Amino acid sequence: MPSRDMIVAVAGGTGFIGSAIVRRLLGAGYRVRILTRDPSRARQHFASSQIDFFRADLTDPRSLGVPLAGVGAIVAAAQFDGYPVENPRRGLTFERVDYAGTRALIEMADQRTISHFVYISGAGADASSGHPAFRAKGRAENAVRNAGIQFTVFRPGLTYGPGDRVIAMFARMLRFSPLFVVPGDGRQRLQPLLVDDLAECVTMALDGHGRNGVFEIGGPETMTFDELIELLMEVTGRQRLIVHAPSGMLKAVGAVAEIMPARFFSRDAADFLIADRLCDNRPLLDAFKISLTPARTGMKYLAASS
Ligand SMILES: NC(=O)c1ccc[n+]([C@@H]2O[C@H](COP(=O)([O-])OP(=O)(O)OC[C@H]3O[C@@H](n4cnc5c(N)ncnc54)[C@H](OP(=O)(O)O)[C@@H]3O)[C@@H](O)[C@H]2O)c1
Repeated sequence: MPSRDMIVAVAGGTGFIGSAIVRRLLGAGYRVRILTRDPSRARQHFASSQIDFFRADLTDPRSLGVPLAGVGAIVAAAQFDGYPVENPRRGLTFERVDYAGTRALIEMADQRTISHFVYISGAGADASSGHPAFRAKGRAENAVRNAGIQFTVFRPGLTYGPGDRVIAMFARMLRFSPLFVVPGDGRQRLQPLLVDDLAECVTMALDGHGRNGVFEIGGPETMTFDELIELLMEVTGRQRLIVHAPSGMLKAVGAVAEIMPARFFSRDAADFLIADRLCDNRPLLDAFKISLTPARTGMKYLAASS
């Protein structure tokens, strides 16, 4: 087992998934360094004095040399602002932040000390995909595999927990709207994953599980989008009418939004919402022997907050 004295740098450590990983790593006794574009803002989010904060921008490889000096492991969990709606004019794309940013972390890693790279990819990652999200994830995975450093890649599906964006937004919509608009026909299949389970696996990976493996990771149950919303209604105690926004309509909204300055939506984002997000958990369960949290249990925090 590697020493827990080693420094683990977490790119995206201020984000939803990254901060859950940071908390779990600290609990396991690792020394954590958060890479962020704004260390003073980041400091306010964490009570622990055990974390070091370093200014780093994944789109500027030169900014990574000092933050990565002496680091034994890197966890890459960053994503561009506004994800999954790209804004190429502002440089906010999967290719630039997810793929090129991951490559920059690999290239700027301290060769004297680096021993492990953990990449948070995503279900459906595929370098030959026509969709920019899945393509960038696939390309980043290839860069990680070919880096010559021990690695673990996780491909999570829809991930939820306190502080997430997607499930929190759905809970807000259930609170304030008499009906819930589901993207597409509602039959796209998902496996909602509790973020703590992912954070646990990342920590176990640094402890030696799943070396040089690529692991899909989703929650233990498969459900349709409609069933997810029904579960949320049950957990939050708010019954609402479900209506469906046909995929053609979503794409039309995306096409209009793409020419607006704020770019709140896009055709690619529409595709992202209506795609299946299924994970084959068997290799993960074999390697990590973890018990994944059922959604009804994992989402209990929503009852208290709604
Ligand atoms: N959330 C999900 O359901 C889900 C599912 C599957 C896969 N994933 C993947 O998991 C990863 C984390 O997702 P998330 O939902 O936790 O994202 P998030 O909450 O939006 O956090 C994004 C993080 O990226 C950092 N970041 C953005 N641009 C950066 C840049 N140019 N340089 C350095 N850091 C930058 C931000 O840090 P600062 O603002 O502090 O710089 C922030 O910590 C992503 O790769 C995402 O694709 C997420």
